[in-house]
Amino acid sequence: MDQLIFQQIKNELINGIVKKGHPFKYFALGTLSGNIPCQRTVVLRKVQPNLQLLFYTDKRSPKVEQIRRNNTVSALFYHPKKMIQLQVEGKADIKENPEMLRKIWKSIPAKSRKDYTTVLPPGIKIDQPDGIEYLTESDHFCMVEIQPTRIEYLKLKQPYHLRVEFLKMEGEWSGTFLIP
Ligand SMILES: Cc1cc2nc3c(=O)[nH]c(=O)nc-3n(C[C@H](O)[C@H](O)[C@H](O)COP(=O)(O)O)c2cc1C
Repeated sequence: MDQLIFQQIKNELINGIVKKGHPFKYFALGTLSGNIPCQRTVVLRKVQPNLQLLFYTDKRSPKVEQIRRNNTVSALFYHPKKMIQLQVEGKADIKENPEMLRKIWKSIPAKSRKDYTTVLPPGIKIDQPDGIEYLTESDHFCMVEIQPTRIEYLKLKQPYHLRVEFLKMEGEWSGTFLIP
């Protein structure tokens, strides 16, 4: 049964990308800034066969700096209709290979490219929210890959809730039921 649940996890994550309106399109990414936990919403862009999760960002952003210092991260997904929560723990890797990034860049619509081309880095104080300047010839786009090491699945339901811990050991995932 835990294998069925693991398959469901995979399917739901993939649906987050392919199904319009699926709540797993977004997740809360947790990083550490020293010993202070930081969270923010990001868009799930890709799920690889061994469940690596990818998102796009500006390589100057604080989250990237935090990952460079400590690449242990968390990703939190919640499906309100199905009452499913996924807590993912993993190691993040900043993908900076220029060729690979160029390929992806070409697929990003012009209006979305602005997210990675501000002249000033994300988080810098400005006087007015309009009048932001954008680069036209270069960008600060990068991709981050999260390699999960632990996934906790929780589904609230009757007559009993389901809570399963999946651990990746020597490349293989194994699941254990937990008291919800
Ligand atoms: C719906 C939504 C989706 C977002 N998606 C992304 C994303 O995919 N990548 C990203 O870097 N920031 C995204 N953001 C902005 C982040 O939540 C965050 O504000 C920003 O990246 C700065 O984070 P940092 O200062 O912790 O690096 C999104 C915000 C919202 C509200």
